[in-house]
Amino acid sequence: MGTAIERFDEKARRTFDSIGRTEVYKGELLRHPVYTRVLHWMVALFFFLALFSGFGIYLPWLFRWFTPVFGGGPLSRQMHPWFGVGFVFFFFLQVLNWLAPMAWTTADTKWMRGIGKIVGGKEKLDPPDTGFFNAGQKVQFWEIVGGCLAYLITGIILWAGARSFGATAVAISYVLHDLSALVMLGGIFIHIYLSTIGEPGTFQAMTRGAVSEAWAWTFHPAWYKKVTGRDPRQAYEKARQQQSGTAPKQS
Ligand code: HEM
Repeated sequence: MGTAIERFDEKARRTFDSIGRTEVYKGELLRHPVYTRVLHWMVALFFFLALFSGFGIYLPWLFRWFTPVFGGGPLSRQMHPWFGVGFVFFFFLQVLNWLAPMAWTTADTKWMRGIGKIVGGKEKLDPPDTGFFNAGQKVQFWEIVGGCLAYLITGIILWAGARSFGATAVAISYVLHDLSALVMLGGIFIHIYLSTIGEPGTFQAMTRGAVSEAWAWTFHPAWYKKVTGRDPRQAYEKARQQQSGTAPKQS
């Protein structure tokens, strides 16, 4: 039985697939459909608009030079909350879209315990039960969910001001709002590094929507097994032997 959220997501995916295209070539797997990609880039766009307009409000002496991009200081201040609303709105849709694959499992707890080995590059492949998203991605996702809630609550208090909520609430909101922004910004730096040079082949997942099978068996072996029915470790060994010219001839 599909829930209302699943039905909403499926309809949105079908609608966006009829507008945009995703080419999946031989040796590739579909990673993110058009709908997911559009949401992701709208989230990123509004995140950076809110961030850069926020910088001018947070540290005007340092970022004053940046405010003309938004039409000057007062206009930056007026537009910043709306950029924030855009960010939270699109991320909310992404949360609905990713509720199922972002659910925490026992495999994620195991992944977290072995994070030292994974980050240290001691293992060629991620643990065999790593699914569509790994535990690190899920932690970041739920951190952004928490951050969005913090922005929304503190942002509304700051927007309405001391006359509606009192000076203490406004002062506390400033601190929490800026702390959430700094934590999220730190996470986004790591995210951008891992999605581009850190884990080569990842960026195309959010541009073209497809990834190579080698990428899938390396970083998300359980997902690779689920969609292809093949064993990721065997696929890796076979590819390695073919590269070194020691693979048995294919019949
Ligand atoms: C220019 C900057 C960015 C780049 C290059 C980028 C790239 C990517 C890529 C390639 C993926 C797919 C990963 C996969 O399929 O495993 C992804 C996923 C994701 N992105 Fe971004 N992204 C950027 C900015 C952002 C921003 C600003 C946010 C939110 C504030 C965000 C949130 C996410 C989330 C939650 C996911 C799913 C989990 C994950 O992969 O960490 N991204 N991004």
